[in-house]
Amino acid sequence: MKINKNKPKIAASILSADFSILGKEVKDIDKAGADIIHIDVMDGSFVPNITIGPDVVSSIRNYSKKIFDVHLMIKNPANYVDSFYKAGADIITIHLEADNYPIRTLQYIKNLGIKAGVSINPSTSEESLRYILDYCDLVLIMLVNPGFGGQKTIPSQVKKLHNIKNMISEKNKKNILLEVDGGVNVNNFSALVEAGADILVAGSSIFNAGKKMYNKNIKNLRNSWKRSDNKENF
Ligand code: DX5
Ligand code: ZN
Repeated sequence: MKINKNKPKIAASILSADFSILGKEVKDIDKAGADIIHIDVMDGSFVPNITIGPDVVSSIRNYSKKIFDVHLMIKNPANYVDSFYKAGADIITIHLEADNYPIRTLQYIKNLGIKAGVSINPSTSEESLRYILDYCDLVLIMLVNPGFGGQKTIPSQVKKLHNIKNMISEKNKKNILLEVDGGVNVNNFSALVEAGADILVAGSSIFNAGKKMYNKNIKNLRNSWKRSDNKENF
């Protein structure tokens, strides 16, 4: 699985989809032009919400051939890596705050032959990534406190993204993908790409207006890149 860094990718977060018809929603969002299917896994302990398990991931796997980007917001994620790998994940991202030995888990994920991602919460400093970057393919910067869709991006996280981009350049790790998650919309998309985002997760800004708008919403996000009337400057 290759992701070209030159063009920002849109990852549709199915957290905002209709769970009663999840397979169809995955198919529709694929057809509407999403590059990646972002799957939010929550355990009711690391975050105050419970969502999707490996059986659900495996049941929707056949509805799209696109990249399945599994974001594990669960404690001790190492215990569930095999299950999500078998369910069809192409990227597995763990939270730095949820694992005592994240390097070991990232190595394990990489050895499975899929991409290993590490995520940090808004309150976690970019410095905590310094000794992790040698072991991951992707860094997921949370722009909101994880747990729910529909929140507003915390502005300080954009500077953090920029700092992480500089850190990966200094360490000559330019292949590492930078993904952002939380509150992405047409007003901040461009600023986030400028600050270094390669993959932008979007949930409510794609799904909330209903199925007829999926394609248009994805197009609007793409077209907002470099638009001069961009409203949020951070
Ligand atoms: C939040 C999740 C996000 C969320 C994004 O904990 O990780 O993926 O679904 O949703 P929006 O785009 O609505 O902020
Ligand atoms: Zn997510």
